[in-house]
Amino acid sequence: MPSVSMKVNGKQVSAEVEPRTLLVSFLRENLRLTGTHVGCDTSQCGSCVVHVNGKSVKACSMLAIQANDTEVTTIEGLAVNGELHPMQAAFREHHGLQCGFCTPGMVMSAVDLLQENPKPSETEIRDWLEGNICRCTGYQNIVKAIQAAADEMGG
Ligand code: FES
Ligand code: FES
Repeated sequence: MPSVSMKVNGKQVSAEVEPRTLLVSFLRENLRLTGTHVGCDTSQCGSCVVHVNGKSVKACSMLAIQANDTEVTTIEGLAVNGELHPMQAAFREHHGLQCGFCTPGMVMSAVDLLQENPKPSETEIRDWLEGNICRCTGYQNIVKAIQAAADEMGG
């Protein structure tokens, strides 16, 4: 079996995997980082979004071996010393979640959006989130949370 090696949440990891192993399975099953969710089998829901070399990626649409030698950040890697990332804090503050299933992917996508566009309009936020499906919130509070995080982060 091929071996993969990558930095995940700042820690170097390596393992032997079957060539068909998806990045999301590697993160959840090999590394037990279960904050990255699987919500569909069509690459539509976005609950599996992580950052690969700083860019948001649907981890169900990438093989683990394609992530060899990259730096991966999952939702578990966002908080620093127990302190929530401003995006996580904004989702909590503005009720951007109900069941929370979509939240890790939403947060990871939103953090990437603000890296690209620190002060997005409501339309730009909604466009960006087209690849992330929430089945409970109606999106309004998610948008509010992202706007609040943008203000907090100085956008
Ligand atoms: S699990 Fe990846 S997009 Fe749905
Ligand atoms: S909060 Fe339940 S799916 Fe989004």
